[in-house]
Amino acid sequence: MEQTKLLALLDQMTLEEKVGQLVQLTPMFFSEQGEVTGPMNELEMTKEELFQIGSVLGTRTKEDVISIQTTYLANSRLKIPLIFMADVIHGYETIFPIPLALASSFDTELVKTTAELSAFEATRAGVHVTFSPMADLVRDARWGRVLESNGEDPYLSSQMTRAYVEGYQGEILSDKDTLAACVKHFVGYGEAEAGRDYNTVDMSDLNLYQNHLPAFRAAIDAGVKLVMSSFNVWRGIPSTANKYLLKDVLRNEMHFEGLVIADYAAVHELINHRVAADKKEAAYRAFSAGVEIDMVTDYYQHALPELIQDGLIEMDQLNQSVLKMLELKNELGLFEDPYRGLKDETLDRDMTPLRAKAREIAGQSMVLLKNESILPIQPSEKIGLVGPKANSHDVLGAWSWIGNPDKAITLEDGLKQAGFNPTYVEREIDYVQLKYCDKVIVAVGEISDEGGEGASKTSIALSQRQVELIKEVYHWNQNIIVVLVNSRPMDLSAIQPYVKGILVSWFPGSEAGIAIVDVLSGRVNPSAKLPMTFPQSTGQLPMSYNFLSTGRGINEHNHAQKYVSRYLDSDNAPLYPFGFGLNYSQIELDQVKISQIDQTTVEIKYQITNHSENAGSEILQVYMQDKVTEVARPERELKYFEKIHVAAKETVNGMIRLGKDDLSYWHADLSFTMDPGAFDFFVGFDSHAPLAGTWTYVE
Ligand code: NOJ
Repeated sequence: MEQTKLLALLDQMTLEEKVGQLVQLTPMFFSEQGEVTGPMNELEMTKEELFQIGSVLGTRTKEDVISIQTTYLANSRLKIPLIFMADVIHGYETIFPIPLALASSFDTELVKTTAELSAFEATRAGVHVTFSPMADLVRDARWGRVLESNGEDPYLSSQMTRAYVEGYQGEILSDKDTLAACVKHFVGYGEAEAGRDYNTVDMSDLNLYQNHLPAFRAAIDAGVKLVMSSFNVWRGIPSTANKYLLKDVLRNEMHFEGLVIADYAAVHELINHRVAADKKEAAYRAFSAGVEIDMVTDYYQHALPELIQDGLIEMDQLNQSVLKMLELKNELGLFEDPYRGLKDETLDRDMTPLRAKAREIAGQSMVLLKNESILPIQPSEKIGLVGPKANSHDVLGAWSWIGNPDKAITLEDGLKQAGFNPTYVEREIDYVQLKYCDKVIVAVGEISDEGGEGASKTSIALSQRQVELIKEVYHWNQNIIVVLVNSRPMDLSAIQPYVKGILVSWFPGSEAGIAIVDVLSGRVNPSAKLPMTFPQSTGQLPMSYNFLSTGRGINEHNHAQKYVSRYLDSDNAPLYPFGFGLNYSQIELDQVKISQIDQTTVEIKYQITNHSENAGSEILQVYMQDKVTEVARPERELKYFEKIHVAAKETVNGMIRLGKDDLSYWHADLSFTMDPGAFDFFVGFDSHAPLAGTWTYVE
């Protein structure tokens, strides 16, 4: 539809119809086909109002979407199609690894492919918009939502966020395989105090600009269509009523032109935050701050018309938001086909390739943390198998609400499929059988419900029972490989002395079991790296590799002193650092040369050799330290990464250039510029990479 027609449509709309476009409800409201009972009754909503709303959250099937859209169109005056939004976080029916796992791949193409495949499947069920990616930077593994994130590094998270948006949205939204993306949660939600979900956030501008905004900027650069405001407060004002964040920063400075949606019932929660006295004030604060769509409350529906009539909100402002909604519907092709291909028999609906892809993607996302010559396992070996995750279908992880766990492959099944004949032992009394095994796989970790929204913990340690299990197994057999199924970094200190191998499989998704065995058996040579630090204890949290230099940091000269930034009962080092992960090859960085290209461009040349007979991949990582800066800066910052494949015995040469944008930083006045002086570069395969050289920028 041409823009002039959209404007004409807007002209025809009554005030109530306009407001309705900004209201989002769940499918529940349509189950009575508009009878004023149940949820409608609770919200004091009339049938007429229901058939004026703009969008629906969380339908499950194509049939639901067809039925709701049909009922809606039959009953609404202007017949503006509904838009269907949902949380498609790591796949729809076919479940891919959790986002934290995908970030572990350090492979943007892999993330983009995952988003494309998720969009392909979700659009076949009638979804138009996904509430993904989650761009929140995270540093506290107690927070259950770390699994939805790209980890602790702003550069990694930015690259991944961009890849998601590109993958979901494709080239053009009228293409029926695409989803519009909604990046969330704007902003700061990842810093909820003490890792407790929905808790207070308080942070400096520098932290905001340096760590939390970059991934949102990347999403906006990639053309993301929607932004979701977060639950937390920022400078005491909930994001959902925060003019500074939503107008000054998001609109004026970051130039976001799409729609802003409140998180679930967040407009209502302004009352709980005690920054609004009632529905009217809450709606006023949210809308005037820049929140355009109200998710699942009737606040906009019932308060915006009055606010407009009272002159507290300008009609122009409402018109702008409604027009954007109409434009999004138009871009998605909904005016031409409100079912967006659901009724088109010729549309490709073959999902079979997705499972094979899910297996491959999961294999690329698992991190091998420890391998004392125990992996890969061989078909000739007798393998013991124990632990709560050994034949569990709970491998999909949180936010896999459509995926069917019964269809997921368990580890035991995976071993059998791959030709192993594991001795699976369930009862303690049978552990003695493990004596006769060459190696024992102990599969432990978390259940899905321990991750995601509302799933914070005060301890990230492996449960006492699971630690005891490992010790018990150790009594019978000392060749232990731990497979961890987990949503977050875990404290593995207690089991370290007892195990020879540790594979972090995260929640791997539908193909879990076989994908884990791919890595354990060497069919897939692991290449993923930690996107979040694994601390030695929960007490070290929040923790990330890119902490700021302090006045009393620890170094080799003072690590035994008291008055330095340290703990009395633990050192500061992590158990496994950010960027760390092993493989089955022997890949080494042989030479790194740093040189100047022009005044503000530095070139890093490297040579990587695979000294082994095993083809493999390494994630080359470049970290930087700007030696003297106006404000305290991270000890190290990731500036570049690349997944590099190296064939057996092969040597690969490469070159990276870093320019002004990479070398600049946010100053106290929030200017983003580069200072003259020296920069150290650390090049290697994890965040502890050695110093490769220094380069000086002369103004
Ligand atoms: C609340 C969550 O915070 C958000 O991430 C999600 O998209 C919405 N609920 C909708 O389910």
